[in-house]
Amino acid sequence: MESTDLLFKKAKEAAEKSYSPYSHFRVGAALLCSDGTIYTGTNVENRSFGLTICAERSAIVSAVSAGQKSFKALAVYCPDADYPVSPCGACRQVISEFTTPDFPVHFSGESGERYKVEIGKLFPFDALRELKDQEIR
Ligand code: THU
Repeated sequence: MESTDLLFKKAKEAAEKSYSPYSHFRVGAALLCSDGTIYTGTNVENRSFGLTICAERSAIVSAVSAGQKSFKALAVYCPDADYPVSPCGACRQVISEFTTPDFPVHFSGESGERYKVEIGKLFPFDALRELKDQEIR
């Protein structure tokens, strides 16, 4: 299976685990690490709405918690939208923390239409990139 297809398959499976009783908007994300492993995440809502965690950040937190810091691609899938759902602003910031501007973000929805957009395009004019490049341990 082509790696993007596999990532979307995993993102789709992750969306089935969504905890989204308030929005009923299930989202799944699958993150391909440089060593070939894939970590997934789903959105986890909270009755204090602002504490909701998106699928993309769930996947990143899960991967980093397992010791991963180098990533090749991300796929996002939402079965509850008939259009491709791209990462929110907060997630774009977090994705950029662990990637370079050419990092590919794939996103899709129930329509099946797929987009592939580099994080540098989704999150341009990154004012803090210099800060990030200063020190990576
Ligand atoms: N959501 C994500 O998980 N990722 C996105 O890219 C868009 C939004 C979630 C947050 C919330 O649980 C629900 O979708 C509606 O905004």
